[in-house]
Amino acid sequence: MDVNKGWKWTEIDTDYWSEPSEEIYYLCSRWEDMGFMRFLDLGSGIGRHSLHMAAQGFDVTAYDLSESGHAILGEKAAKLGLSIQTVKGNNEILPFNHSSFDCLLAYHSLYHSDSVGMGRIVSEMHRVLGSGGEAYLTLISKSHPDYLRDDLEKLDANTVMKPEEDGSIIPHYFVRYDEIEKLLHPFEVIKVKHVEDFFSGKSSWHYFVHIRKP
Ligand SMILES: C[S@@+](CC[C@H](N)C(=O)[O-])C[C@H]1O[C@@H](n2cnc3c(N)ncnc32)[C@H](O)[C@@H]1O
Repeated sequence: MDVNKGWKWTEIDTDYWSEPSEEIYYLCSRWEDMGFMRFLDLGSGIGRHSLHMAAQGFDVTAYDLSESGHAILGEKAAKLGLSIQTVKGNNEILPFNHSSFDCLLAYHSLYHSDSVGMGRIVSEMHRVLGSGGEAYLTLISKSHPDYLRDDLEKLDANTVMKPEEDGSIIPHYFVRYDEIEKLLHPFEVIKVKHVEDFFSGKSSWHYFVHIRKP
């Protein structure tokens, strides 16, 4: 899809997006123990997870469509003396060789596509991860109230055009639990959690999915 332009991070209150998520502490420790080194942060935003992983010694690539996100990440990395490779692009086409990474995170950043695009994204993630590599991603659940809103344009049975925090209206792909395995079929599913978060008092449902490339 070419409707995606990446977030305008200069228009966003960056406090929430600066603090690493709690999941990254577990993943960092697990992936360190597994001897993983090459980490890809897909839809890296302003880099809260990239910075954390680089500080722990991982070889980090931060990938995002947003130039303003990369600019903020670059400044933060420079201040901390961390080296992070930033690459601009769309999740649907990853400009990396086969098996370039041991582990990959896509936190609230993978689902900005439609049903066809999501198939491409999954196959690209599979291609760039090495055998035995792991990915951790979040997907928006069809239990999210926005999936059922009739004032939002629907692109297909799973995809709704929805405003983001920076005001842009971009695609959001929603799934149900029983659709996850089919969507991620080249991978083995390690664990799925169904999580309700509250942002400014509004309910928000996601699946947190941990997968492995056989
Ligand atoms: C909600 S933010 C999450 C950022 C980061 N993962 C985090 O947890 O802090 C979503 C990010 O995904 C990026 N993004 C949206 N659509 C994308 C696409 N199709 N390809 C690459 N990045 C995309 C946006 O520019 C934005 O920086």
